[in-house]
Amino acid sequence: PKAKPFKIIKSYNAIDERVKISGWVHRLRNKKSLCFLVLRDGTGYLQCVLTGDCAKASANLTLESTVSLYGTIKKLPEGKSAPGGVELSVDYFTLIGLAPSGDESFTNKVQENADPSLLLDQRHLMLRGETLSAVMKVRASLLRSVRRFYDEEGITEVTPPCMVQTQVEGGSTLFKLDYYGEESFLTQSSQLYLETCLPSLGDVYAIQESFRAEKSHTRRHLSEYTHIEAELCFLTFDELLSHIEKLIVTAIHYVLEDPVAGPLIKQLNPDFKAPKSPFMRLEYKDAIKWLQEHGIKNEENEEFKFGDDIAEAAERKMTDTIGVPILLIKFPVEIKSFYMKKCIDDPRVTESVDVLMPTVGEITGGSMRIDDEEELMAGFKREGINPEPYYWFTDQRKYGTAPHGGYGIGTERILAWLCQRYTVRDCSLYPRFSGRCKP
Ligand code: 4AD
Ligand code: MG
Repeated sequence: PKAKPFKIIKSYNAIDERVKISGWVHRLRNKKSLCFLVLRDGTGYLQCVLTGDCAKASANLTLESTVSLYGTIKKLPEGKSAPGGVELSVDYFTLIGLAPSGDESFTNKVQENADPSLLLDQRHLMLRGETLSAVMKVRASLLRSVRRFYDEEGITEVTPPCMVQTQVEGGSTLFKLDYYGEESFLTQSSQLYLETCLPSLGDVYAIQESFRAEKSHTRRHLSEYTHIEAELCFLTFDELLSHIEKLIVTAIHYVLEDPVAGPLIKQLNPDFKAPKSPFMRLEYKDAIKWLQEHGIKNEENEEFKFGDDIAEAAERKMTDTIGVPILLIKFPVEIKSFYMKKCIDDPRVTESVDVLMPTVGEITGGSMRIDDEEELMAGFKREGINPEPYYWFTDQRKYGTAPHGGYGIGTERILAWLCQRYTVRDCSLYPRFSGRCKP
């Protein structure tokens, strides 16, 4: 009899049809005359039952083997749960690739309680697990949603280079690169390139890998991460803040209503509450006060004072205690990047923002940019950076300057918050951090 090839997710609606479904054996329970298996094909999971000769022929089947199953999709009665509420009653199957048993078996390679670094060696196999693959599906949905938002806002996507000769976020985290004998770096941020696109393309964004040689091991630092960045012109600081808020609220809304990602978030993060605007706005100086009042100490284990960097631990304590998304604004000049615009009413601080989310802390950093050439030169000087290699960036201030601002979002950070993962490493396909560049 004829069988139509189906992907699992589509087969959920093919009740009583004879289908052919190919995939990997995800779970297996083999008795003499009965075999239950769960098949996985990347679109979903399918409960399958093999009886009679089919069950006998499946005696040597192993986890992660590939098979094509033929049979009829049956709707399960209420109360019996299986993915999609269906079961495949198998009447014929072919084996495509038999996975090893014994020492080399899949289960042996990915022992639940194995050393995390051994598990990372087996990342290619770990990706087949339900949790990690769910996070990767949510990730795809998030990037799709972000692009949809930008598209609806009329913001143009560009692809800046990854190999560069300038820094954006400080020399200490630059990855050096031998570029045909010239000193070059892997990009830390596409910001400067995005700024140069404003006069030709208007508001722009990029979703591009950024690289940081972060030596310390933390829950939220990777050496390579996917950076969502945008640059907007002719706007005020307040408009920039509203835009960032709208992006986060809208993109998360799209992900939650996505038929694939929405239910996965419910599994991964059952208590997740969609953020609503307006977010709380907290000035840096008031955050310092808050930290003092709550007895949280700075990096030197002293009371926080104006001018201190609010490092990861203190920032997370504050964010978790407050318990809602925060726009932390107006950081002092000294602890922020050379390109940030000063506030007119208080030149000690900048028109800058970090978005902080409970459990993760900073997921976004942004600011208005210095649009005056002389002031920018002073910024370079303060940071001890030679402005010459930046001529293409400073020219921006010469040939028709404009007020503008932008921001960068760490994809893995926003995912860690959304999917409730302990570390950003769980939100990256093949995480890179110091000591790990494989597989
Ligand atoms: O705060 P950052 O360093 O800001 C910039 O790079 C700006 N030039 C962006 C811009 O305005 N266009 O980085 C922005 C975001 C952070 O808020 C964080 O979410 C993420 O990028 N990020 C990292 N994520 C993972 N691993 C790292 N080592 C990260 N460093 C920054
Ligand atoms: Mg930052």
